[in-house]
Amino acid sequence: MAPAPPRPYVLLNMVSTADGRATIDGRSGPIGNRADRELFHGLRTAVDAVMAGAGTIRTERYGPIVAEESRRRARLERGLAAEPLACIVSGRLSLPVDIPLLADPQARVAILTPSAASLPGVAAQVDYVRTGNDGRLDLPAAFTVLSEHFGIRTLLCEGGPHLNSELLSAGLIDELFLTLAPKLSGGETPLQILAGAALEPPVEMDLLSVFESESDLFLRYRVVCSSASARAPAPARV
Ligand SMILES: NC(=O)c1ccc[n+]([C@@H]2O[C@H](COP(=O)([O-])OP(=O)(O)OC[C@H]3O[C@@H](n4cnc5c(N)ncnc54)[C@H](OP(=O)(O)O)[C@@H]3O)[C@@H](O)[C@H]2O)c1
Repeated sequence: MAPAPPRPYVLLNMVSTADGRATIDGRSGPIGNRADRELFHGLRTAVDAVMAGAGTIRTERYGPIVAEESRRRARLERGLAAEPLACIVSGRLSLPVDIPLLADPQARVAILTPSAASLPGVAAQVDYVRTGNDGRLDLPAAFTVLSEHFGIRTLLCEGGPHLNSELLSAGLIDELFLTLAPKLSGGETPLQILAGAALEPPVEMDLLSVFESESDLFLRYRVVCSSASARAPAPARV
């Protein structure tokens, strides 16, 4: 059998209320606590690239990925670039160029898209990874480009739910960090950490660790290797 094409080792980090909601008032920020924010920034400090779907980028209005000087120094000491490569997945390429990330001339951004178009008037340093067609990105091919042309070994995905489902069904997630917050929020059609088509068969996971802080639960799972794509080799440290 031919070896699977190279791809980064992929971590997914999500936060949810105890009743499974991924947002409160349309944002993820109100769900987690101080320790969750620490985990969020700690993971960003440890990886080569941070990815989000266009829906999340639009809603959360992303800024610099690692802004704190001490974290930038910690990255350099680990042999990483001061700032991870920011990766945005978009089909329609309808992104607000005034969000702090795209307005920052220092930011390095890769836009993964099937579109042949480019964003006008972006101050950030943008590269385009163009795979797929008919508005659908070929995610495995794009991940191979990230690995081979950008040297990305570890990639942190920060959602959102639609992108998560696509990545899981393509067998492209290796670990899930799930923060379960002691909150109940209800609602008729709550957005959960996965959205879109059902995963068939369901993805199986092994629990790697559980921590607790101020009643938040921090769950770390390993995705059991799916048939869609072989798991990437684990990085030395995350
Ligand atoms: N609780 C948490 O941890 C957490 C984390 C992240 C986000 N969120 C919340 O989730 C919400 C946003 O999530 P979402 O599911 O609506 O958006 P999303 O998954 O962030 O982004 C969806 C968009 O990504 C692009 N996309 C994804 N897969 C694609 C593919 N295979 N080919 C082409 N384009 C693709 C499309 O962009 P285009 O529309 O540009 O074509 C699509 O509309 C926000 O409310 C955010 O606050 C919560």
